[in-house]
Amino acid sequence: MTGPLVVLVGPMGVGKSTVGLLLAEHLGVGFRDTDEDIVAAEGRSIAEIFVDEGEAAFRAVEKRAVRTALAEHDGVLALGGGAVLDADTRALLAGARVVYLSMDVEEAVRRTGLGAARPLLAVNPRKQWRELMEARRHLYEQIAVAVVPTDGRTPEEVTQEVLNAV
Ligand code: S3P
Repeated sequence: MTGPLVVLVGPMGVGKSTVGLLLAEHLGVGFRDTDEDIVAAEGRSIAEIFVDEGEAAFRAVEKRAVRTALAEHDGVLALGGGAVLDADTRALLAGARVVYLSMDVEEAVRRTGLGAARPLLAVNPRKQWRELMEARRHLYEQIAVAVVPTDGRTPEEVTQEVLNAV
């Protein structure tokens, strides 16, 4: 077991799941998504975990989910947009083939709309997006071996770029 072939990171709504599935298909491997692992393990939605227990508790659960997935999965792995906030998680990703799917703030606002299903965007999405991007961009860049911009590109085009990059 050598860990995932490719780990996708980047902000919510950037297309990690869509591109991840396409990528897995191209590579003939499985796709795994830590958000889905968390929902399955907890038996409730991520929004519910945020509301019931707060962000810090969610991050602790997420850290464990990332650790487990990195140890168990050898295909394509997508992480939740905020997983990189945790220093232990970033350390676990050292040496992995991490690809950062990026997008600019306006594209993010367009893609996620009012973000009702995403707890971090409940009010004033544009301002919150700007803050999120500013706080996280350097963390994504720090752990990524490649950055693939997604603005104005289809999932197939992004997938091709990722395949070229890894
Ligand atoms: C989050 C991103 C979400 C999910 C949670 C928090 C974030 O994952 O983990 O809502 O902090 O950016 P996706 O990036 O898969 O939407």
